[in-house]
Amino acid sequence: MAPGTEREQWGSKIGFILAAAGSAIGLGNIWKFPYVAGENGGAAFVLIYIFFVMVLGLPIMIAELVIGRHTEKDPVGAFKAIAGGTKWEFVGYLGVLTGFFILTFYNVVGGWTIGYIVKSVMGEVTAVHDTATAQRVFSEFSANPALMILYHFLFTATCMIIVVKGIRNGIERWSKVLMPLLFVILLILIGKGLSMEGGIAGLKFFLQPDFSKITMSSVISALGQSFFSLSLGMGAMITYGSYLSRQDKILHSALYIVFLDTFIAILAGLAIFPAVFAMNMSPGEGPGLIFHIIPVVFGNMSYGIVFAVLFFMLLFIAALTSAMSLLEVTVAYIIDEKGWSRRKAVCVFGTTIFILGIPAALSFGVMKNVTVFFGNNFFDFMDKLTSNYMLPVGGFFIAVCLGWKYGLENTIHELDPDTRIISLKELWAFTIKFVSPFLLLLMFIMLVKDDVAGILSGLTELLR
Ligand code: TRP
Repeated sequence: MAPGTEREQWGSKIGFILAAAGSAIGLGNIWKFPYVAGENGGAAFVLIYIFFVMVLGLPIMIAELVIGRHTEKDPVGAFKAIAGGTKWEFVGYLGVLTGFFILTFYNVVGGWTIGYIVKSVMGEVTAVHDTATAQRVFSEFSANPALMILYHFLFTATCMIIVVKGIRNGIERWSKVLMPLLFVILLILIGKGLSMEGGIAGLKFFLQPDFSKITMSSVISALGQSFFSLSLGMGAMITYGSYLSRQDKILHSALYIVFLDTFIAILAGLAIFPAVFAMNMSPGEGPGLIFHIIPVVFGNMSYGIVFAVLFFMLLFIAALTSAMSLLEVTVAYIIDEKGWSRRKAVCVFGTTIFILGIPAALSFGVMKNVTVFFGNNFFDFMDKLTSNYMLPVGGFFIAVCLGWKYGLENTIHELDPDTRIISLKELWAFTIKFVSPFLLLLMFIMLVKDDVAGILSGLTELLR
């Protein structure tokens, strides 16, 4: 933003909450949460996930919003402002880079949703009546290089157009109308899944924990997923918080956003797993899971075509409101710190993301077996690198910087002054200073240990 111009603010309180929830609720809830939970044993994973949401997600969400409103800056500027020395700027840069990396694969999956809107309209989705066909349709689709690049392009371009328009006309307006509709369609899917024969087994898988299935790597996935789903650890919420006015209540808003996001993820699980079990599918299908399941559910439903079109449109919009928030971080940084125009920033970075995303777009076809790092193709690698490493590391530095470097006494007054639940404020201060950094550090040590062990065993395999 040019010096002297007033910083744009959200049009209304509910507008902000919905936009932040729009950032949080996305492919992470509906596409990723079910398949990661499915790969990691179901209900036990869900419990660990909820634990991380409460002890790390919520406090860090509040911390990011506090930093944003306090400094009214993009993440890089915010860290410069609160940490004094330029050394801490790297946390902001790390965030900008993370957003960039996430977009390279996020926009590819966003492209899949456009592809499935087209397929739904043409009746190809509801022509699917069994899972074998659904799997074949999806693997042919995701292996088609030209189509993948085209849809990746269309998704990225749509996102760029909305971000150019700035926050109020773009991000806020879209979120307000569409999020409630998503909720309704999920309820319909749940009803359908539960009424299928054998659906109850899916409910058990999702809700009845079997802790023997839990491994270190599933705990790490739960942590990464909680950060990813809540849009934390890279300054997206710092950026959104920077557009908050002094009247907005941070504690309140954070509670709403975290609740809504977790609620939608649970609903998505409830919608998917009964259908998975009713159709005798494995819950560990990986990134294709919802595309293998949802078409069959709609294919066997009256007016299925209407619901299919609606579902994929809403998924597309949910993905879009999240991708916008990721792009907004980079754009806000360039505008604030380098003084570029919004249009130029969006054009340059949107194009770069499109180009860097091409290997991810090809990761289910021609580049399927091109391993970037120990058995991971480009898509998996970017996903793991960002969710498991970059976001929690970012969260760690956010907590340390606010709790230890800048000091909570300088920021705690940003929290709802008239709140009657005073203890919540203190609970937050305690958690962000004493619990979050240590838990994250511990998790990081475990993660490195787990990954190093994996790499070593991979190496011995290779040498044998
Ligand atoms: N939370 C989004 C989702 O669930 C993705 C996302 C948007 C995100 N902004 C982010 C993830 C910032 C991490 C950081 O789909």
